[in-house]
Amino acid sequence: MKVGIDKMHFASSHLYVDMTELARARGAEPDKYLIGIGQAQMAAIPPSQDIVTLAANAAYPMLTAEDIQAIDLLVVATESGIDNSKASAIYVAHLLGLNRRTRTIEMKEACYAGTAGVQLAQEHVRVHPDKKALVIGADIARYGLNTPGEPTQGGGAVAMLISADPQILALGTESTLLSEDVMDFWRPLYHTEALVDGKFSSNIYIDYFQDVFKGYLESTGTSASDLTALVFHLPYTKMGLKALRSALPLVSETQQESWVAHFECARKLNRYVGNLYTGSLYLSLLSQLLTDPKLEAGDRLGLFSYGSGAEGEFYTGVLQADYANGLDTGLPQCLARRQRVSVTEYEQLFKSQLAWKADDQELDYASDPHRFVLTGQHDEQRQYLDKWA
Ligand code: COA
Repeated sequence: MKVGIDKMHFASSHLYVDMTELARARGAEPDKYLIGIGQAQMAAIPPSQDIVTLAANAAYPMLTAEDIQAIDLLVVATESGIDNSKASAIYVAHLLGLNRRTRTIEMKEACYAGTAGVQLAQEHVRVHPDKKALVIGADIARYGLNTPGEPTQGGGAVAMLISADPQILALGTESTLLSEDVMDFWRPLYHTEALVDGKFSSNIYIDYFQDVFKGYLESTGTSASDLTALVFHLPYTKMGLKALRSALPLVSETQQESWVAHFECARKLNRYVGNLYTGSLYLSLLSQLLTDPKLEAGDRLGLFSYGSGAEGEFYTGVLQADYANGLDTGLPQCLARRQRVSVTEYEQLFKSQLAWKADDQELDYASDPHRFVLTGQHDEQRQYLDKWA
């Protein structure tokens, strides 16, 4: 039985910062951000969006009444949780109108947890093939103003419906994992921005990629040349390029060119959104599937998931004949329609997120075009609004 990704949809902010402008404001050469980091624009998340609204906004457009009836597992993977106890998935399930008999949980391991969600979901569906699982990676990547990590921020959510006989990608049952205690990136409960050893984390990422990629090839008897393309977690798009380059010696010159051409499609949309932690690998997969003219049904794609702290996993999936039917085809146009904000406006947005304090708070959501918005906090409870209700 085939099990895998049946539908994928993305949501982010309607606002972005231009990386050339950000570089100039920070006294950096624009090419450092555009080429050296590999980012052209960065989503600027308004206070009226948090991981709950991003997750719900990502999922609702792709779900039919039949899907909602069949879903009995919802995983929200996030680094940017809003509560130390209650799972964000419960709010999301409520906003989406999911069945009350749904298992709703939040998963955490930096940028990796979306993959843990996908693997849990595919195992669940293999046991219950008439059921579907919804996995959402939702994050707001915050490193802080004027820090080296600033140009690698961003945010958004990718929603994936996992089912039997999937339209998009049939997932393999084999994967290779690596997990060790590494202090490359972490965020203590009292911090709203990540603590990171940037260069160290980039090196660990490459080490983990090489370890799980080679481990996967050896343990499954797969040849690197069997893989049409490699898709990476992209904290910034140059990171994936570095990992890809480290694998090129394993294939012929012709295939090296082909892998690099496929990678350019896989990073296209991430260049305009920035990092979205748990959703980053899956936005890159969406980018690959939406913008790559050279993909064909039957192609095997390799996926590398990485979360600092650290955990890495490599697995593969086979592209299905109707993959285009399951995709968020309006995404490139949606990104092109976003409004640019100045660096000053972005800094104001950055500082005006819902404050981590008990007071009642009201947020201005009038200009937020999304269906689900965060309107504030009352009696220490976040207030969500479905504008369609
Ligand atoms: N034109 C083209 N490239 C330029 C350039 C210019 N004018 N100026 C600098 N560069 C290149 C550098 O050579 C470097 O490329 P390389 O990595 O291939 O050597 C790149 O731009 C970044 O420059 P660097 O000086 O290393 O940047 P930095 O010290 O400001 O930090 C990160 C970069 C990625 C470490 C930092 O953004 C960070 O900490 N990010 C968050 C952590 C992260 O995302 N980790 C990834 C694993 S999860």
